Amino acid sequence: MPIQASDTFTQLARLAFLVIIGVGSVATAQDLDPATPPVATETLLGGADQDYEVEPFELLDVFDGCVLNLDGSNKYCTLEGMGGHFLNKNEAYWQAQISRNVPASEYPAAVRQKFPLWELNHVCGGSMIAPNWILTAAHCIKQDDVLRYGLTVRLGVGDLSKSEGVAFKIDRVIVHKDYNAQTKLNDIALLHYVDERTDPKPLKELGIKPIFLHGDIGEGPRLTPEHQLITMGWGVTSVGPDGRNSKNLLGFNLNRMPNQFCAQALKAPDRINETVICAIGPGIDACQGDSGGPLNAAVFHRSSGRAVAVQVGIVSWGIGCAVPGNPGVYTRVSRHLGWIRRAMAAPSDVSVLR
Ligand code: ARG
Repeated sequence: MPIQASDTFTQLARLAFLVIIGVGSVATAQDLDPATPPVATETLLGGADQDYEVEPFELLDVFDGCVLNLDGSNKYCTLEGMGGHFLNKNEAYWQAQISRNVPASEYPAAVRQKFPLWELNHVCGGSMIAPNWILTAAHCIKQDDVLRYGLTVRLGVGDLSKSEGVAFKIDRVIVHKDYNAQTKLNDIALLHYVDERTDPKPLKELGIKPIFLHGDIGEGPRLTPEHQLITMGWGVTSVGPDGRNSKNLLGFNLNRMPNQFCAQALKAPDRINETVICAIGPGIDACQGDSGGPLNAAVFHRSSGRAVAVQVGIVSWGIGCAVPGNPGVYTRVSRHLGWIRRAMAAPSDVSVLR
């Protein structure tokens, strides 16, 4: 489905988001290290488990799929499919890709001919939330991938078809004990990777660093439907048998949809509760292959005067992709902070945790 035409305001809003979250924050926000979160009173957003549901809800027609590259060189206004826009990898320094290590020889020749190995082995998106830890969705984790082939995480990647960034072996997988494959509630998992490089360059120098989690950086105003959200991934750009993954990382600018309206829109009251968050955009959506990736917001950090990115959700499910009126459903990060902390502190033989 083609994207809608843009207007100047939306262009500017998007550009502002990319500029504050993008190059600027990577190059200069040394003080904003999630390993040492800023003190609670100094942030404008992030109160744990805070939320804001408004009534009546009107869908803000804020975004389209058009974007100006940060270097001004390119203008992509003709993207089709899920309405995403290309991201520079430094605009998504926390973005991770999870793949399975299935050897090419295990795929039938006809399949191999049609799809490159990177696409066949692509599993999900994810996000780096602390050194050695990747947050993703529970539904991304398949027993065969983990036990038979093994999983790899790639960080610092823009184009999946190239050997960009760094790749690490996943040596631990922790899935939420209450993940429900039917309702997709508690769709959250943590992956631990080992850095086996002999001469490791600090990841920061490669433009890779963790993202703050919503609720983890202190008290502040609630996340409102007015907050601009962005999700990102290498998921398919059209649905159906011809749907192919995007080799370039795409970003999708979305609006918040309060849960009450989300439950109505998806006719799924039992699947929408306070542990999920919904987001929608006109002709824009995450889709198959984007799962496990982050839903992000830009928040203002008072003491540095800069905006930082926080992760508010994890791509979980939807009904179709970019179907008008159908929001995407995301695991709500602020409702799982306790689980995330426990999982990171758990003994190394724990693989399922409540
Ligand atoms: N479940 C899908 C996956 O495994 C992604 C779902 C997101 N769908 C949506 N319409 N927002 O990749």
